Amino acid sequence: MPKREIKLYYNNVMADVIGSEHGITPEQLKDLAEKTSPLIPLLNIERQGGATPYRDLPYKSDISQQVKKLVKELAPRCENLVVLGIGGSALGNIALQTALNPYMYNLDEKQRTGPRLFVFDNVDPAQLVSFLDWLQDKLDKTIFNVISKSGRTSETAAQFMIIRQLLLDKLGPDGLKDQVVATTDSSQGTLRKIADDADLRCLEVPDGVGGRFTVLSAVGLFSAAMCRIDIDLLLEGARDMDTRVKCEDFYKNPAAINAAINYHFYNHGKKISVMMPYSYALKDLSDWYRQLWAESLGKVKDLAGNDVHIGPTPVKALGATDQHSQVQLYREGPNDKLFTFLQVNNFEKDIKTGPAPDCAEELGFLAGKNLSVLLNNEKKATEYALLTDKRPCLTVIFDKVNAYTIGQFIYLFEVTTSFVGALFNINPYDQPAVELGKEATFALMDKPGDYEAGYTYQEFAKKIHSLTEIDEMFLI
Ligand code: PA5
Repeated sequence: MPKREIKLYYNNVMADVIGSEHGITPEQLKDLAEKTSPLIPLLNIERQGGATPYRDLPYKSDISQQVKKLVKELAPRCENLVVLGIGGSALGNIALQTALNPYMYNLDEKQRTGPRLFVFDNVDPAQLVSFLDWLQDKLDKTIFNVISKSGRTSETAAQFMIIRQLLLDKLGPDGLKDQVVATTDSSQGTLRKIADDADLRCLEVPDGVGGRFTVLSAVGLFSAAMCRIDIDLLLEGARDMDTRVKCEDFYKNPAAINAAINYHFYNHGKKISVMMPYSYALKDLSDWYRQLWAESLGKVKDLAGNDVHIGPTPVKALGATDQHSQVQLYREGPNDKLFTFLQVNNFEKDIKTGPAPDCAEELGFLAGKNLSVLLNNEKKATEYALLTDKRPCLTVIFDKVNAYTIGQFIYLFEVTTSFVGALFNINPYDQPAVELGKEATFALMDKPGDYEAGYTYQEFAKKIHSLTEIDEMFLI
């Protein structure tokens, strides 16, 4: 199969195109190259020293072998695969499925090559009950992949406690053992304890890799491989991108250039990053990117301990849908955004329009045209419209959407995140600010333990209630 590299097109962020007030001048690009170039060997050295283990995931053939072995064992008796997880334990799974399996995969037996896939990344009771009503008599043909590094994540733990009891009630302890795969830490944590106790099949969340960087580990690979996505090709794409993003020539390194451009615009009043795929298949990749960008780059402190309150706001949009929802703002609202379009040159499937009805000759311009031509022209049209208003636009070009190009995209944006983190001088691999909300949930749900300022859970819950209880005086 010919290699089809994804490409980053950056001319339309340059001053030549959108003017020097908003665009990057050649001198500014030179400065960005000078600032970013030393970070390339720095990240390469950090990676060799083991500081960024996510970088090595595409090379871990033991992980893909273990995943494939489990798929071989379970796939023949699995009609439905249910992923229970949240954040980094779900968004990659969803993105891979939307990108690499047909739109009607779950519903059309002819298009479905593996089990139906359902990913529950919330604790909405109406959603789960509706699903369980449908699932009733299919439990023994359903595999539940519970994914949690810690096992203490309230949402995933609650979902699992429902499923566990259901399996115990309907199929007994053997049923629990047969129908659940736990993806968790290799040696510690609550889910590891539960898995060992119930003798569950297990896969590992890799050590030292934050959830949002784990899609190329067993976290993302198991559901993908169960649904017949070519995980070898996915990892090959990521490996080939690795060669490009470790290249020490700034102008040949797409992650370094992408990061430098994002960094520049953040520092020049464009603090919002809009990712806008012109392809339904790519739509959930922008959701995955949104978490990667927000959790990694939104930080209060820099590495020197200064308060910086830094971080671009990632926004997802979808072309052409959001042309009829967001583009009015994008063109006439504040010029505070950098746009990254995702463009597909060759769609997996295409379809032509029929002739215009006799009574509507004005639709003749659409007659006999491929939808892919319309969609890609709409991307050009929107980009043109934004450029006339001096809005900077990047484009990631996919010759085709397949496992190879998706692997490249994932790795490109993961490493871009590392570069932006280095440019901001912050730690992109932690997420301390999500802890307080988790702790507050624990207290409100009556979990004993040590809370902030030595509070008991009752005291902490009282403090939370005092701020969040509805005051009738302000209710209209
Ligand atoms: O990126 C992250 O680290 C988070 O989004 C986690 O993936 C998420 O909070 C789930 O954590 P856990 O795997 O411990 O359940």
